[in-house]
Amino acid sequence: MYILAIESSCDETGVAILSEKSTDQIEILSEELSSQVKLHELYGGVVPELASREHMKNLPLLLEKALAKSKISLNQITGIGVTRGPGLKGCLMTGLFFGHGLSQVLDVPLVGVNHIEGHLLAPMLDNPELKFPYLCLVVSGGHTEIHLLKGVGDYTLLCRTQDDAAGEAFDKSANLLGINYPGGAMLAALADSVPGSRYKLPKVMRSQEGFSFSGLKTAISLLIKKEYARLQSETTDTESEITNIKGEIAFAIQQAIIQTLIDKLKAAMIQTNINQVAISGGVAANKALRKAVSNINGAKTFFPLPSHSTDNAAMIAYVAYLRLKRGESLPLDAPVLPRWPVETLNSV
Ligand code: KG4
Ligand code: ZN
Repeated sequence: MYILAIESSCDETGVAILSEKSTDQIEILSEELSSQVKLHELYGGVVPELASREHMKNLPLLLEKALAKSKISLNQITGIGVTRGPGLKGCLMTGLFFGHGLSQVLDVPLVGVNHIEGHLLAPMLDNPELKFPYLCLVVSGGHTEIHLLKGVGDYTLLCRTQDDAAGEAFDKSANLLGINYPGGAMLAALADSVPGSRYKLPKVMRSQEGFSFSGLKTAISLLIKKEYARLQSETTDTESEITNIKGEIAFAIQQAIIQTLIDKLKAAMIQTNINQVAISGGVAANKALRKAVSNINGAKTFFPLPSHSTDNAAMIAYVAYLRLKRGESLPLDAPVLPRWPVETLNSV
């Protein structure tokens, strides 16, 4: 069994090939990724039209590379998985049409994969010892939510952001510090370069119901204004003090976001009485977050590889494998689903 997977929901084009070595024993033979960060950086965010065109250009090239690396030929592919949603409509359509075209030519089934399900199951892909049930915090540029996973397609939403996602909070905060889009990873690197911070951001981003990060941006811009005004009124070595302040503010921002995520994970553990905890999504690549999650008292923690935390096609291949084995397939006229809450999969 060889599964070809396609990811094109946002600004990364991904192609991966998975092989089933024996029953339930799988291997990712190859995975290719083309990031569009440089292209969208110019505009301070993802431009959907440009992203779709890039996917269209990149998909055939990445497919060729992935096949060459996996040392199999196209006609050995036995099933195809494509991200069907959530994501940008044009981007999703590019991937789905590409996948459908291949499935027709090769006469193999195609399944539509939920991108968030990909993130939820990525910890299992990289930690075969992880079994259901477990809690998974998905922290990406568009999503921040904790689910209880009891089986494939059996996901209970425990907590979701009510405004910004954690990745968005990182990116918007980075922007306020003068770091270019997407900025999350660079803010993290800046935060990790200092030993601590004189600043502590207020806990305005805590909410009872779900996550809420909207107050963080206001608190940060006020802090930055106050500190810059102070510097102007003092006769210190401004250049080096600005560098110190930036690092320490980045540290405080990272701490504030992580603390919120940890508090909610702890609450989810108590609510469900489950101690297996995984994290996934772009922000799960954050080293300080990984450390904080590892330190949660009583938790057994699981992380995907950093390259499977951010968007990638290997996680899509894994979900496609599980779902194709259950006999699922997507009819030709099925539309993409730009909004597709992962918990609605339960009823499929
Ligand atoms: O899952 P992902 O690759 O794409 C989406 O589906 O959104 O997540 C991207 C998000 C961006 O907001 C990016 O800034 C953030 O993940 N991110 C990070 C780090 N690496 C990526 N945030 C904090 N620390 C990092 N090391
Ligand atoms: Zn994602």
